[in-house]
Amino acid sequence: MGSWSGHGGAAAAAAAAVSWLCLAAVGVEAIGANWGTQTSHPLPPDTVVQMLKDNGFDRVKLFDAEDGTMNALKKSGLEVMVGIPNDLLATMATSMKAANNWVDQNVSSFVNDGVKIRYVAVGNEPFLETYNGSFLQTTFPAIRNIQSALVRAGLGTQVKVTCPLNADVYQSSTSKPSDGDFRTDIHDLMLTIVKFLSDTGGAFTVNIYPFISLYTDPNFPVDYAFFEGNSQPIVDGSATYTNMFDANYDTLIWALKKNGYGNLPVIVGEIGWPTDGDEHANAQLAQQFNQGFLKHIATGQGTPMRPGPVDAYLFSLIDEDEKSIQPGNFERHWGIFTYDGLPKYQLSLGSPRGLVRAKNVKYLEKKWCVLKPSVSLADTRLPDSISYACSLADCTSLGYKTSCGVLDTRSNISYAFNSFYQKNDQDDVACGFSNLATTTGQDPSTGTCRFGIMIEVDSAFSWKLQHNRSNYFLMLLLVLLQLCLSFS
Ligand SMILES: *[C@@H]1O[C@H](CO)[C@@H](O)[C@H](O)[C@H]1NC(C)=O
Ligand SMILES: *[C@@H]1O[C@H](CO)[C@@H](O)[C@H](O)[C@H]1NC(C)=O
Ligand SMILES: *[C@@H]1O[C@H](CO)[C@@H](O)[C@H](O)[C@H]1NC(C)=O
Ligand SMILES: *[C@@H]1O[C@H](CO)[C@@H](O)[C@H](O)[C@H]1NC(C)=O
Repeated sequence: MGSWSGHGGAAAAAAAAVSWLCLAAVGVEAIGANWGTQTSHPLPPDTVVQMLKDNGFDRVKLFDAEDGTMNALKKSGLEVMVGIPNDLLATMATSMKAANNWVDQNVSSFVNDGVKIRYVAVGNEPFLETYNGSFLQTTFPAIRNIQSALVRAGLGTQVKVTCPLNADVYQSSTSKPSDGDFRTDIHDLMLTIVKFLSDTGGAFTVNIYPFISLYTDPNFPVDYAFFEGNSQPIVDGSATYTNMFDANYDTLIWALKKNGYGNLPVIVGEIGWPTDGDEHANAQLAQQFNQGFLKHIATGQGTPMRPGPVDAYLFSLIDEDEKSIQPGNFERHWGIFTYDGLPKYQLSLGSPRGLVRAKNVKYLEKKWCVLKPSVSLADTRLPDSISYACSLADCTSLGYKTSCGVLDTRSNISYAFNSFYQKNDQDDVACGFSNLATTTGQDPSTGTCRFGIMIEVDSAFSWKLQHNRSNYFLMLLLVLLQLCLSFS
């Protein structure tokens, strides 16, 4: 650094400019983020849209088309993939009218208002084996009807249909991508969908999760999940694979190619790494994975079977505290940002600043709920109180090798109580626990373990108000009805 002094100022500025240009040039390859909303306390949509822009994302993938979200995306310049949840597939499949209405209300109106909708994701991983085939009959007809509705609305060229699928829809009988093909139980269905996507100019969207492979298979070679090239290579003809992403992606390309669709565009709908809730889920590994992936796709080289740019959406933008933990405790911790919009680690997405926090986040008071120091750990009321708190709030950061895994028993209990208290907007009643708990102004956070303070949510408040109001209306109606009946 010393040699830069003297005329260093200008030289450093020039170097910074050059490296910025290089980053910008490399970063031209667009990167997207998934914006899920299974949260008890969502950040305001305008705040999230600003976050996306401030952090260099240029596209966003949604799981629905909520008004608040869509309104915030107006004139944002961000490209948008809207989603139709699985529970609407049956309706979309059986009613052309419903499909037309969905497109009119959730696509056309927003396109007219300046939202850059590029894709409609019909369903979300509908063929997951855990769904027991519930959506096998309805997914394709729903795709077809939504496509017709888009054409009818005059959006056929501007907005394409796709269907985000888990990578379990294809497989290879060996470790080699070239042995890839679609899963046998849905092979014909996959070909019907793939042909339709190909005919209509759509894209195949696939979610790829090396983390899940590592989570479910204790013998999975850890290095193979990452992009450093440190793992034992898999040689497949002239191609060599040192990371699971490339091999998995190319297994799909082989499956497509084998069935005559080798040129179908592919979108990586979800890719990412969680930061808590499992021994392999932490900020350091998440940073390593996501940065490795970004660096990998920024080269523009693609994979051996599909050279060129990779179109991808990171999973996920923000933690979601109300996701089901049936897949595992990590499920609520996929965010690059915490529930309140703080970056969990640094990532260079093409913006030279790195990640920046959400702006103007409003917090509740600096108050926490903790176990009363006077309570004995032998108190028999404790176990029920803890399970009550954990079942309704979030204790997924407690456990073996998690962010709060090293807490002593008292702090552990406090964590559970505080989680419940914050989730209930610091309501005094929510720090009762049969008088075992008390509030404190002193932050109990230590090391990696964060005792959060909840954010203010305007919409939650108005939702409650509306809720109460609709109760009044209902009561009023009932009273009127009774009056009518008694007069007739
Ligand atoms: C539009 O999308 C929202 C949110 O996903 C949904 O609740 C609504 O029913 C949709 N509109 C129609 C007409 O289907
Ligand atoms: C799938 O089937 C299994 C076993 O038959 C059952 O336990 C599970 O609840 C089913 N899941 C769904 C989503 O229907
Ligand atoms: C902390 O709490 C979790 C969840 O309630 C529990 O599984 C774990 O055993 C507790 N650890 C200690 C040290 O008490
Ligand atoms: C709504 O009603 C519930 C009881 O039904 C009450 O506890 C709550 O405070 C009310 N919320 C508002 C915002 O008035």
